[in-house]
Amino acid sequence: MNINIEADFKDIFKYNPQGVFFAPGRVNLIGEHIDYNGGHVFPCALSLGTYAAAAKRNDGKIRFYSVNFPQDGIIEIDLSDIKYRKEDGWTNYPKGIVSVFDSAGFKADKGFDVVYNGNIPNGAGLSSSASIEVCTGVMINDFFKFGLDSVSIAKLAQKAENEFVGMNCGIMDQFASAMGKKNGAILLNCNTLDYKYVPLELEDSSIVIINTNKRRELATSKYNERRGECERALKDLQTKLNIKDLCSLAPEEFEKNKDLIKDPVARKRAKHAVYENARTMAAVKLLEKNDAAGFGKLMVQSHDSLRDDYEVSCKELDAAVDLALKRPQTVGARMTGAGFGGCAVCIVKNEGIESFVKDIGPEYKKITGLDAEFYTACAASGACKLEE
Ligand code: GLA
Repeated sequence: MNINIEADFKDIFKYNPQGVFFAPGRVNLIGEHIDYNGGHVFPCALSLGTYAAAAKRNDGKIRFYSVNFPQDGIIEIDLSDIKYRKEDGWTNYPKGIVSVFDSAGFKADKGFDVVYNGNIPNGAGLSSSASIEVCTGVMINDFFKFGLDSVSIAKLAQKAENEFVGMNCGIMDQFASAMGKKNGAILLNCNTLDYKYVPLELEDSSIVIINTNKRRELATSKYNERRGECERALKDLQTKLNIKDLCSLAPEEFEKNKDLIKDPVARKRAKHAVYENARTMAAVKLLEKNDAAGFGKLMVQSHDSLRDDYEVSCKELDAAVDLALKRPQTVGARMTGAGFGGCAVCIVKNEGIESFVKDIGPEYKKITGLDAEFYTACAASGACKLEE
C-alpha cells in the first residue's frame, strides 16, 4: 500500500503539514514474554508501520484523524483535558504519549493537528500500537524541542501503554520501533537496556510472517495475568535466592530451586521464562555463526514452550506453525508477540516461499475457517522524521 501522508493531511485539514514522521512495527524472532522478566529479546523493526503528518497549532487544541479509522472522523480534544476513555479507541495511544511526556516534564505548550496512516495489519500482534505511540513521541519531541533520544522516547512510550492504556507490557515493542536498524535484528537485554545489532544474514532464506487473522481477544487481561503469575513465582524464589528477576536464573539454578515455587502454574510460567532467555542467547550465537538451521530449531522449542508452559498460543497459531514445519523449505517457525492470536514468524528458504504460501493458505483455512495472510519481511530502520 502506497501511503502519501502529506496528501492525507491536506485532504483532512486543508493546509500543509509541518512535519512527516514514521515509526515501524516489529516482529520478534525469539525471546517471547521475557522482556518484563529481565530477559533478552531479539526483535527487528519492519518496513510496515505508522506514518504521521502534523502541524503545531497556536492554541491548546489537538485534532486527531486516522485514515485507518475514517468512521471516527476528526477527534478534537483540549491539552488541558487529556484523559483515558475506553470509547476513544485508538486516540488513547497518542493521548497517552502527550500525557506521559507532560508528567515527565516534557510539556507540549501548544496543540497540534495530526493525521495518521498505518499499513500494519491492525490487531495482528506486529505492534501497531507501539508504532503509533513512538511515532507520536518522535513528533512531539521534534515539534517542542524536548531533545530526547530514541531510547528515552521508547521508555516513555512504554510508560504510556502501562499507565495510560493499562496494558502492562515490557519495553520490547517500543524499543524495536524506536531503535530498529536496516538489515539488523536487536539483541536487547531488558534488564540493563544494553543492546547490540546482529546482521540478519539468512543466506538463502527469508523471514515470512503468517497472520492467522485470529483476533487477539482478551489479550490484555491474559497478558497481565501472565505477568502476575511470573511475579508470584519470583516472590517464592526470592524467599531463598537473591535475584531481581526470573531471567537472572540459569536453567540449572532454576532446576535446583524450582520447588520453592508453590503454585504449579506459576512454576511452569517461570520455567518458560528461564529457558526462553537461555534459548535466545544461544540462538543469537548460532545466527552469528551463520547457523540458520540451529536458530530455526530453537524457534521451534520456543513455540513449544509458549504453547505448553506459558500457554499463550492458540489453535490458529499452532495450526500455522505445524503447517509451516511440515514443509521441507521451512527452517524454523513459532508464534510471535503476545500470542492468543496474531502472527507466526517463520524462516523459509527463498526458493520455496511461493509454494509455502500457496500450500499453507488453503490447508490453514480447512482447519480454522480463516484466511491467513503472508508477508515477507526485512529488518528495517527505526522511527524518524521523514522530511523537513
Ligand atoms: C507484547 C508486549 C511486549 C512483550 C510481548 C511478548 O508484544 O507488548 O512487551 O512482552 O508481548 O514477548
